[in-house]
Amino acid sequence: MNPSPSSKLPPYPGNALPDTPSPQIHRCVLVCQHRTCLRHGAAAVMSAFAQVRVPGVTIQTSECLGQCSIGPNAQVLPDNIWYARLTPEDVAIIAEEHLQGGQPVDRLLNPRIHLRF
Ligand code: FES
Repeated sequence: MNPSPSSKLPPYPGNALPDTPSPQIHRCVLVCQHRTCLRHGAAAVMSAFAQVRVPGVTIQTSECLGQCSIGPNAQVLPDNIWYARLTPEDVAIIAEEHLQGGQPVDRLLNPRIHLRF
């Protein structure tokens, strides 16, 4: 019996839906360190992310992510999950629930990108 077409597809990231991230994949967190985010505390947010030690997770600084008015901002790839208005205290929650547990932190999501209906 031939496998279904979907079973031939390679694993994440190419085929997974953004709202169903897997805790086993390699992730990269981009933390904006551009002007507006820096004015709102992005350096402290980056310092908190720099303390995160989760296997398979890379933390990187980033240029402007285009969401300046609701910074500090961060984007998690390949999940394509965007966080906004971050504080250093939020980072430990993101690390535990999203980066380790695979479940994005709903209350910290960027409301422009992750629309609620
Ligand atoms: S300055 Fe951070 S998103 Fe633009």
